Amino acid sequence: MSGIHLNESKETLLNARIRKRLNVLKLDNYEDYLEYLLKENKGEEIHYLIDVVSTNVTSFFRGGDHFDFLSDAVMKWYNEGQRRFRFWSAASSTGEEPHSIAISLFETFKKLNTDIKSLDIKILATDIAYSTIIKCKDGIYSEKKIDTISPAMRNEYFDSCFNSDKDNSNKFYCVKDKLKDIIVFTWLNLSNPPFPMKGPFDIVFCRNVMIYFDNKVRQNLVNEIYRLVKPCGYLFVGHSESLLNVENSFSTVRPSIFIK
Ligand SMILES: C[S@@+](CC[C@H](N)C(=O)[O-])C[C@H]1O[C@@H](n2cnc3c(N)ncnc32)[C@H](O)[C@@H]1O
Repeated sequence: MSGIHLNESKETLLNARIRKRLNVLKLDNYEDYLEYLLKENKGEEIHYLIDVVSTNVTSFFRGGDHFDFLSDAVMKWYNEGQRRFRFWSAASSTGEEPHSIAISLFETFKKLNTDIKSLDIKILATDIAYSTIIKCKDGIYSEKKIDTISPAMRNEYFDSCFNSDKDNSNKFYCVKDKLKDIIVFTWLNLSNPPFPMKGPFDIVFCRNVMIYFDNKVRQNLVNEIYRLVKPCGYLFVGHSESLLNVENSFSTVRPSIFIK
């Protein structure tokens, strides 16, 4: 259903994560949980289960060279006359990836002396875990989360904001509206193509998620991304991932970057 494929080596991890749901629901064992899952008719529990099972680790400007590559590609396309740009963060987790794309775009168009509002730019950010989509939309990050972002960029793209900590010890930062305005966050299950989007996308970031899928799910996903990327558009995968064992028509630009 989610396509997340965890082998036996992940059993302890999985147990600990599912335990969290048992604790919330005050259930004693997995049999009771399974029964609850099957009987619960609102269909909410399956989403909570996916939330706890999926790994949401991410960070701002993760895989930094992808953002330099994006900037160079966008400059080239802009100089060729392109004014409509579409990007897709296909497993956006808690939002650091799409927000990093948005910041990169603002910085790129600043260099080109172009107001981003004069262009047609959208970033689609999707994930299967509802909890992450809520965090993306809130756009609130702890100081630790944004410590890789320079103070000048923090001022430009974040506001200091309230925190709910009792002791007020941690600072939080909210993403400014100008970033939020170009990002659309929504739920999508990557293991279930075809997707409703028409594309074409200039660049698809599908990073650090295919590692959780088996070959069949990966194959169908890569085929669907190929359909949605424009000719000469790009697919970025995680630095520890590849398209090995996946038949595809992309050409390799460098490890983790593919062109249609
Ligand atoms: C490790 S995070 C990667 C985040 C980001 N792309 C990055 O590279 O930093 C993996 C994300 O994939 C999402 N995910 C897992 N299975 C998915 C599926 N079938 N469809 C969509 N998202 C999925 C998880 O919820 C999680 O947020």
